[in-house]
This record gives sequence, C-alpha cells and structure tokens, in this order.
Amino acid sequence: MQKTIINTILAAALGVACASANATVKVGFMLPYSGTYAKLGEAIENGFKLYVAEQGGKLAGQDIEYFKVDDESDPSKATENANRLIKRDQVDILVGTVHSGVALALAKAAKESDTTLIIPNAGADAITGPLCSKEVFRTSFTNWQPGYAMGQVAHEKGYKTAITITWNYAAGKEATDGFKEGFEKLGGKVVKRLMLPFPKVEFQSLLTEIAAEKPDAVFTFFAGGGAVKFVKDYADAGLGKTIPLLGSGFLTDGTLEAQGAAAQGLLTTLHYADGLDNPKDKAFRADYTKTYPDIAPDVYAVQGYDAAQLLATGLNAVKGDASKKDAMRGAMQGATIDSPRGTFKLSKAGNPIQDIYLREVQGLKNQVIGVAAKALADPARGCKL
Ligand code: PHB
Repeated sequence: MQKTIINTILAAALGVACASANATVKVGFMLPYSGTYAKLGEAIENGFKLYVAEQGGKLAGQDIEYFKVDDESDPSKATENANRLIKRDQVDILVGTVHSGVALALAKAAKESDTTLIIPNAGADAITGPLCSKEVFRTSFTNWQPGYAMGQVAHEKGYKTAITITWNYAAGKEATDGFKEGFEKLGGKVVKRLMLPFPKVEFQSLLTEIAAEKPDAVFTFFAGGGAVKFVKDYADAGLGKTIPLLGSGFLTDGTLEAQGAAAQGLLTTLHYADGLDNPKDKAFRADYTKTYPDIAPDVYAVQGYDAAQLLATGLNAVKGDASKKDAMRGAMQGATIDSPRGTFKLSKAGNPIQDIYLREVQGLKNQVIGVAAKALADPARGCKL
C-alpha cells in the first residue's frame, strides 16, 4: 500500500518534471511594428496567433510563449535584433520578417546559431537560392514568383514594351527581374528600369519620365504605405487612363481602403486573392474577421497563419519537443499545408510551390480572375540542398 503511494507520488513528480522541461515552445517574432511595413507585421502576427488559438492555444500539446522585436525594416539593425531573440530570449523558433534586406541578415543569424527560421513574407530570392539551408523555411513566396507570372500576363495582353519602377533593394530588384524574365522570354522588352531608395515616396520625377516614354505598360513592386502613395500618385498624374499599371499583388494587398478610387481595375499577380472558392479560405476569413473585426484578412495574415501551420507540423512530429531539430525540420520540409491560398508543398529549397493568381481590384477586393501560373516553383538558382 505504502509502496503504491510512493510510486504514485514519484510518477506524478516525474510527470511534472518532464512536462515542465518542455512546457512551452518559445517563438520569437522579428517583424516590423513601425514604419512603412508596420501593418504587414501586425497582420502576420495576427494570422500566426489565430492558428494557435484555433488549436486551443497550444501546438503539439505545448503552450506557446511569444517574444517580439520591432525590426523597423532596417537592415543595419537586423543582426543585433536577431540576436536579441536568439541569444537573450533563447527562442526555439524564429518567425520573421517582411523586408528582404533584414531577412538576409536574419537567415544568416539563424543558420549560424542552428535556430529554425520560418519566413512569413520576405521574398529575397537568395534565401532559397544560393543561401538555402535546412534551418530556413518560407511560407510566402520569392520575389521572382509574382513578377515572373506577371511578365507572362503582360505578353498575353499584347504589350510589347514596359517600364519597371520600384524601390532600390532586393525585393524591388528581384520582382522586376522576374517580370523582365517572364516578359522578355516571350518577346516583350523592358525599355527602362526606374528605382528610388527604400522607403522613399517622392515619385513625381519618375512618373514624368514614364509619361514621356509612353511604354505599353508599367510594372511595379511597392508595398505597404509606399504602395498606397504610389497608386494614388500614378492616378493623380493622369497615367492610370493611358498606361496600364501592373504589379506584384502587394501593390494592392491590405491597402485598398486607403487607395480608394485610384486602385480600381488594377491587375496584379499574387499567391492569394479574394474570392478563392475553397472551404479553408472561407473558414479562415470568418475566424479572422471574428477575432480582428477592424482588419480585413490579407496575404500577410495568410502567410502568418501558414507559418503557424508549418510549425505545428514540425512540432507534432516530435511530440512538441523542439530540441529534436532534425526530425522537426524533416517533417516541416515534407509538409503539405492546407492554406487559405490553396494547398501547397515546399520545394527542396524550402519555398512554396504555388499557384499565382491574376487579380483585379474591384471595390475593396483583389478579386481572382484567373491563374497566371499554375504550381509555380521558384527556380532556386544556386541552391545546393
Ligand atoms: C520584401 O522586402 O521582400 C517584401 C516586402 C513587402 C512585401 C513583399 C516583399 O509586401
């Protein structure tokens, strides 16, 4: 009798000890919470937390403890900010970020410290190209993907010449490179590439150049607050009526209320859209709207939501023990994500292989009007995995 009681007490004590060793999984958000991309960071965090809440607040039976750093979309502070989460907070998983330049430094810090990183936005091609690694996964896109798809659409529309305009940093350069590749492969010609420093929004002189050059179309990458201003300035300059404006879908995602009439009818390409007729998206949107009544669900929220789904797949495979890194990463690499955008898998380099939708702005919606590129995989040039 006494032995049984002692055994019971021992078992209970051991149980508590085991549970507390793994009681929480520490997730570090490195995201922009200020500046032109602040809303994007917020949407990613919202999406991530929504998925966790849908699972009853736990993943693989573990509580999730959150740590946060505002990276300000500033590459010069990126390594220091990453180390706040890696060294000071000792997070198990990094989730970040939005800005490609910041993400390049974050990926390096993740690799060097053997920390698993899930990128819920930044599209820097190199991260799943020459710098690809087993620690780093992405639930978003490469900058090349929507740009390349739009290059094909521009050709199909019969445009022969185009000007590109963007911010002078990795995302802008790579999105417009992708457009040029898709467009020129089919016989189009990019006649001029205009750039201004990130996050500047003084577009006037560049718009004057576009008006003088009169290309068949303009392709652009801008996002967040900068995208709002660009779309309005383009319309105010009278160009909206004469030279069609095409964009990576970030141009009009999460921005439509602020852009108003200036955005109506714009065509963009992206891996998410309004009006996707799938049950997962309907459920996601209903839940998101219920949880965050003042914010419309957008591509950034979806990418955050899917980052949590990817993490859940990894944690489930190791019964919540994030220290089993290889097994966790193996499961993440092989995951099939039931995303609001449609189901996707990851390439060997860790980037989604996904449909790129053609969308048209109708009212406050980026309405899907077709598939610009089916199951598009980034070429992952230079990845040796
Ligand atoms: C990027 O820097 O990679 C980036 C930023 C904002 C977007 C998309 C890509 O909306």
